[in-house]
Amino acid sequence: MEEKKGEYKILFVCLGNICRSPSAEAVMKKLVHDAGLDGRIKVDSAGIIGYHAGEKADPRMRSHAARRGYKLDSVSRPVCTDDFFDFDLIIGMDNRNIDDLKRKAPDLESVGKIHQMTEYSRNKLYDYVPDPYYSGAEGFELVLDLLEDACAGLLEKL
Ligand code: 4NP
Repeated sequence: MEEKKGEYKILFVCLGNICRSPSAEAVMKKLVHDAGLDGRIKVDSAGIIGYHAGEKADPRMRSHAARRGYKLDSVSRPVCTDDFFDFDLIIGMDNRNIDDLKRKAPDLESVGKIHQMTEYSRNKLYDYVPDPYYSGAEGFELVLDLLEDACAGLLEKL
């Protein structure tokens, strides 16, 4: 873990910042808290688009997450240029997020910070976290399954 000012900062990114990345933020924060690493690892989330800026996470996502003990309290915001300087690791949920992040990255060092969530999976065979927005309940459950697995793998790697 390469730390700046004693803190390692992780930004999770999806398209709207109301389903997948707020869930990744909540799952990772709980893992970090349970590991006693609150002061050393900071976690945030953002979206590629600003369409939902200012909104809380999708009520369907919040309710599925709540059943597993996660409280999604983030407010949607779009990724900004400063994020590429402020964060040590920027994690997208699917290939489109990765392509969009690379297009937004201000320099080569920033491009090197961009990774895909499923790179850290331990047990799941998915190579991206599918967008649940137009799915039924199973889509939201799959998101949480994939994120719990990959966030545990991420914490192990740090
Ligand atoms: P997310 O899901 O990227 O996981 O937050 C979506 C949220 C909103 C939209 C698409 C995906 N949308 O088209 O508004």
